[in-house]
Amino acid sequence: MSEVIDTTLSAKSMELIELESKYGAHNYHPLPVVLSKGEGVYVWDVDGKRYYDFLSAYSAVNQGHCHPKIIGAMVEQAKKLTLTSRAFYNDSLGAYEKYVTQFFGYDKILPMNSGAEGDETAIKLCRKWAYTKKGIKENEAKIICCENNFHGRTIMAISLSTDPDSYAGFGPFVPGIIKIPYNDLGALEKALQDPNVAGFLVEPIQGEAGVFVPDDGYLAGAYKLCKSKNVLFIADEVQTGIARTGRLLACDHENVKPDILILGKALSGGVYPISAALANDDIMLCIKPGEHGSTFGGNPLAAKVAVAALQVIKDEKLAENSEKMGKIFRNELKKIDSPMIEIIRGKGLLNAIVIKPIKGKTAWDVCLKMRDNGLLAKPTHDNIIRFAPPLVINEAQIMETIGIIKKSILAFS
Ligand SMILES: Cc1ncc(COP(=O)(O)O)c(C=O)c1O
Repeated sequence: MSEVIDTTLSAKSMELIELESKYGAHNYHPLPVVLSKGEGVYVWDVDGKRYYDFLSAYSAVNQGHCHPKIIGAMVEQAKKLTLTSRAFYNDSLGAYEKYVTQFFGYDKILPMNSGAEGDETAIKLCRKWAYTKKGIKENEAKIICCENNFHGRTIMAISLSTDPDSYAGFGPFVPGIIKIPYNDLGALEKALQDPNVAGFLVEPIQGEAGVFVPDDGYLAGAYKLCKSKNVLFIADEVQTGIARTGRLLACDHENVKPDILILGKALSGGVYPISAALANDDIMLCIKPGEHGSTFGGNPLAAKVAVAALQVIKDEKLAENSEKMGKIFRNELKKIDSPMIEIIRGKGLLNAIVIKPIKGKTAWDVCLKMRDNGLLAKPTHDNIIRFAPPLVINEAQIMETIGIIKKSILAFS
């Protein structure tokens, strides 16, 4: 694997990278660092070097690595009962369903595993609602989505995508999709003229696209337009949700309550794949027994983990911390004087810088340098570096990480 040959890597790291390369599909291009331990905002590599984790597994580890309360709940439940399938009831699911629906203010939850499955579930729910409630003719429902979205890697998700890296070579695609520019209410209004539109699926901030924050008023305006046409407003908060942007949900910044809410990632604090679609009864009860589900969705282990993960968000006031630390972080980032930094943007602790390559040095080089200096982040779309640390980070740690970022960027400019 010549690509990852890196003189700073230990023999042990190289060996482990080679192992993955030889036996694993080559569907990722990881930063060359091999991790073996995590705690709070830190991860350690196999040689014992400590790093700040500024990716948080794409915002899954909002509560910090190996949070003792979440791990405690997981271990305790793992010794008792892990999986029953939904062929039988279990003694943990109902309590989780009650907790999570009250937490987010919905009548019901449909529990799944990955974020992409959460999106699939939302789209199935929306189509079913369109046929049973809205009166759209069978098989004619349409979903509006936004350019540069990211909703996962399934065939449905890549059918929504406008990124050739995601969809090219995997067709044919799912029909019934209208793609409009993000952050463009005029385009939405026009697309909503089609009477077969059932739902509008949107990320409140486009995370994978490079942390694109829409204009103030976009979400509220989009919601209003959807309501005027009896179209469901579906928010994919898989990455933006659960305190990441300084509110419990990114939609809360504009007091928008989605008709269908999709959650994943931090719903487990990063210890287990847990996702969900939440909605009120008029939508959720459109799906009948046998029409949707998953062997693992709603298992007792996931149920206990998710309750603990949400409790941590509340007890440790992580939305408030995210808001406060995010402001400090962006302010301090703006003080770094380098021609390499083109744009700084974000909300709460979901932030990004757009890097202008200088002397052939790119965002990838900056990430390697930050790694050497003790901070892990990864470029998205070549020139954007996302900064999304665990939300348990404190001010002293923010200041230390600013120092690392500054030193790394200034090494090239
Ligand atoms: C907004 C959004 N939706 C869906 C997904 C897919 O989640 P998963 O990788 O768990 O399937 C992601 C993953 O990054 C995401 O950011």
